[in-house]
Amino acid sequence: MTNAKRRSPQDLRSARWMAPDDFRSFGHRSRTMQMGFGPEDWVDKPVIAVVNTWSDAQPCHAHFKHRAEDIKRGILQAGGFPMELPALSLSESLVKPTTMLYRNMLAMETEELLRSHPIDGAVLMGGCDKTTPGLVMGALSMGLPFIYVPAGPMLRGNYKGNVLGSGTDGFKYWDERRAGTITKEEWLGVEAGIARSYGHCMTMGTASTMTAIAEALGLTLPGASSIPATDSNHQRMCAAAGRRIVDMVWEDLTPDKILTEAAVRNAVTVAMSMGCSTNAVIHLIAIARRAGISLTLDDLDTIGHTTPVIANVRPAGQSYLMEDFYYAGGLRALMNNLGDKLDRTALTVTGRPLAEGLEGAEVYNEDVIRTVDNPVYHEGSLAVLKGNLAPDGAVIKPAACDPKFYKHSGPALVADSYAELKKIIDDENLDISPDTVLVLRNAGPQGGPGMPEWGMIPMPKALLKKGHRDMLRLSDARMSGTSYGACVLHVAPEAYVGGPLALLRTGDIVEIDVPNRTLNMRVSDEELAARSKAWTPPAPRYGRGYGWMFSRHIQQADKGCDFDFLGTEFGPRVDEPEI
Ligand code: FES
Ligand code: MG
Repeated sequence: MTNAKRRSPQDLRSARWMAPDDFRSFGHRSRTMQMGFGPEDWVDKPVIAVVNTWSDAQPCHAHFKHRAEDIKRGILQAGGFPMELPALSLSESLVKPTTMLYRNMLAMETEELLRSHPIDGAVLMGGCDKTTPGLVMGALSMGLPFIYVPAGPMLRGNYKGNVLGSGTDGFKYWDERRAGTITKEEWLGVEAGIARSYGHCMTMGTASTMTAIAEALGLTLPGASSIPATDSNHQRMCAAAGRRIVDMVWEDLTPDKILTEAAVRNAVTVAMSMGCSTNAVIHLIAIARRAGISLTLDDLDTIGHTTPVIANVRPAGQSYLMEDFYYAGGLRALMNNLGDKLDRTALTVTGRPLAEGLEGAEVYNEDVIRTVDNPVYHEGSLAVLKGNLAPDGAVIKPAACDPKFYKHSGPALVADSYAELKKIIDDENLDISPDTVLVLRNAGPQGGPGMPEWGMIPMPKALLKKGHRDMLRLSDARMSGTSYGACVLHVAPEAYVGGPLALLRTGDIVEIDVPNRTLNMRVSDEELAARSKAWTPPAPRYGRGYGWMFSRHIQQADKGCDFDFLGTEFGPRVDEPEI
């Protein structure tokens, strides 16, 4: 442990609520006694928040009711006092229009939950896509010691002996159903078999990507992110996290000591090597900025250039899912294979350097976890494109698209809304060539609103019927991490705020060059200036409420889509509450 001096009970933040001989503290104590606790439960003990994103509307966290008990068991074993605090559960599958609209709300809730209660340290329970960044961003801004407990991936999907991957196989079989090649009965079989247990999506989607990032940042116990949700190792990991957070409070191991520039670089490298979800870009930038570290799209592209994809997990990989990844050795084994691409001196929640957590990790299946010399894909899974269509950048996942689109030009077919797009994709007689670039705009952070996962634009029926399964698609939306195809995403600035994407017209030629990282429309500067002059901003989407605040303060994708007023540079640290 870096910090030799252990804190004493009088230093505990919770002691300010519970210890003084005054009237307010009388209230805090008597009301804690109302719940059946006595002084032996709290005196001289760190109070640990168990921030739980369980709800009846969150299938990926269905086990969290029980896992919270495992965490509490660990906290009690180590001499802490657990206090479970429920937080927004943000189910990726059920929350509309998109959980991204609420990631920052969860971050704000987490920060203020920790600030307003008598808390000394926290265990954060998340896993489903936005819950990891939301919880981590909020806890970073609060600054108390915390440890992240990832939900763990669900079991592999199964239908008639075929392995099914979350999202990825849903999209695939849906295309087949639309092309008329599978029956309704088969489709219903896929529906019943694709999500067989609690836990987050088991492809390398946003959930698996973000929990791996949390581990690479040093915010979980070593190996925690790969353990399947249903495995009893997951329960033991929860209890161990409960024990460890109590010591972290005594050691004053605050997140600023862990979330350094080296940790952020490690996380980017790990994400790239995992064949990460495109959403990782937005969340990584937002997390780094909360820690006061500048991370840009160019930084991500630079690390991506020199980091091969070595996790053979769908959709970037061909065959395997997170359960296989765990049996093959999990994230610790993958990190070992990255050798000196990682800074192994980075401190983790263990109080020890990353290197110690990786000791003894082995690869048990070399097809699932590859070496850097035998990768799934020769460079990182994401590429950042810039040009007159996206001056502040756009993102593509070359590892998950047909290489023939790496260099491509074709006429744009532009939809201004999802409803307009739907007409295009459902028209069986549409006159469309496979070279067409299908564009959806007004689907960005403000336009969506909340930047929904509409970026994997479904293939037009007219092309599906002719046997085409990929085409170049372009939007200011995001796409699910489980998606695949030649989809250019996160175009910034978005069309809704007048970015150049708003000026593109059907028939204009769009040019993409992934090796050279460019994305342009073949339209002259003079013509663009004229179109810009004629452009009128759309009417605001919200007249009141959370959406109103969201529209005023959300930043663009290249800045991580955080609210401007939550940034470290926005103002001084918030004071401790008056008690
Ligand atoms: Fe929860 Fe995919 S729906 S992780
Ligand atoms: Mg997802």
